[in-house]
Amino acid sequence: MPSAVHSVSMRALFVPIEAADVDVIALPWFESEGVGPFEALNRAAGGEIARALGSTEFAGRPFEFFAAPITDTSWRARRLLLVGAGKRESSSAYVARRLAAAAGIAARPWRAARLGFVVRAAEGERAEFAQAVAEGLTLSEFHGGNYKTTEPHPAPPPAFSVICDGAASAAIESAAAKGRVLGECSNGARGLANEPGNTLTPREFAARASALAGETGISVEVLEEKQLEQLGMGMLLGVARGSSEPPRMMVFRYEPPTAKGPVLGLVGKGVTFDTGGISIKPADGMERMKDDMAGGAAVTAAMRAIGTLGAPIRVIGIVPATENMPGGRAVKPGDVLKSAEGKTVEVINTDAEGRLILGDGLWYARKLGATHLVDVATLTGAIVVALGKAASGLFGTPDSWVNEVQRVAERAGDRVWHLPLYDEYRDQLKSDIADFTNTGGRPGGSSTAAMFLKEFTGGLPWVHLDIAGTAWAEDAKPWQPKGATGVAVRTLAELATGADAWAK
Ligand code: BES
Ligand code: MN
Ligand code: ZN
Repeated sequence: MPSAVHSVSMRALFVPIEAADVDVIALPWFESEGVGPFEALNRAAGGEIARALGSTEFAGRPFEFFAAPITDTSWRARRLLLVGAGKRESSSAYVARRLAAAAGIAARPWRAARLGFVVRAAEGERAEFAQAVAEGLTLSEFHGGNYKTTEPHPAPPPAFSVICDGAASAAIESAAAKGRVLGECSNGARGLANEPGNTLTPREFAARASALAGETGISVEVLEEKQLEQLGMGMLLGVARGSSEPPRMMVFRYEPPTAKGPVLGLVGKGVTFDTGGISIKPADGMERMKDDMAGGAAVTAAMRAIGTLGAPIRVIGIVPATENMPGGRAVKPGDVLKSAEGKTVEVINTDAEGRLILGDGLWYARKLGATHLVDVATLTGAIVVALGKAASGLFGTPDSWVNEVQRVAERAGDRVWHLPLYDEYRDQLKSDIADFTNTGGRPGGSSTAAMFLKEFTGGLPWVHLDIAGTAWAEDAKPWQPKGATGVAVRTLAELATGADAWAK
């Protein structure tokens, strides 16, 4: 796996632009803004900014770029990169994160040693923007790596800094450093989710996840089949039956010595390849199902971030990992599985496997003492129909916990949309023979899936994030290449690091 761990720091430079000791200055530029406050920069670039604006070669539209050499040798920087930032009214940390990532990607071929991105934020928002910019710059370093034997390695990324004109601030410095860590961990999750299914088997996933999280002092335990049997995890074992690759369950623990109060339980779906099983999926697009462990990767990477940044509470991470394969011993439609919780499930469709392994995972998080639950999963095609790729589906109870996770997610730049969990959805899971079925038909497919999970939450505060639409970018965008996005890593990590806001 391409290591996400560069451990290069993210500098915060509290200097006016002209004094920034970098090679490339990247500056967000709003639509219809004049050279005004940037007259010195314009002059240092030989009047190129004014010329480009005047000729409408550059107008500051979102993700439009304009590059010019800085010819004034009294400046340290040698090149200027204007990044179209769109309308000033729509400026936000969310936009700044993407602009920074786009600038990092656009500047990559120049092979500069140092790039500084100018933070343009109102006084009270400087730390929030600096963190988002640090995240975006770090996200731009991601290179999925590939198995091509003929392609040269991409240029190494420059050392990044955030440029904040104004008084030095420890809060901004630590926000930038935090953004760096969150960006690196997001990249770690992306690297895992990009891996092919034959490379990243459940055992390999567990090995790499142990290394990723373990390096930062998180304790890691990997449960093997015998232990899963002893714990009675019939749903996870049921899904794994069709495969010759054995399942695993990763258990991460973050236990700061002085923590008391709530325990956050993070549970991530770790299906390393989802063929659908006996209810096999159509061939078209099935290769995408190598990322069906993106939720598990997000939990792993979030644990790494929590280990690095620290958190005021205990955190437990659970990742059930398995393949979902057809095979002579595979679970069949009509089979009944017994969950670790004791509830029985009639498997109507073997392709609804994620909820089965998560059910045992949620139960185990509770058993280990979690008081608040969040699960993350590429769970349903229905969420892609409902929300497309613009937001993850968010479900849960009670509203206070839902609102808290929603607030943190929005701030972390992971867009979520709250969807309902009406009691009626439970009726769709009625079975003639078991406590319930594993599918509720097409109507409300994402809500019935969430309702299934709810059965295993023991009434604890719980949120479910369905990332089937957001875990994978189908096409490259200026701010991210095609492939795994690292969705939810920052949300999960920030829930823990910012737990003082909710852990009362
Ligand atoms: N991993 C899939 C969900 C998925 C679909 C993820 C598209 C990413 C993109 C999940 O295991 C699945 O197959 N769900 C079924 C459930 C159905 C059988 C009730 C689905 O959504 O079709
Ligand atoms: Mn499936
Ligand atoms: Zn799946």
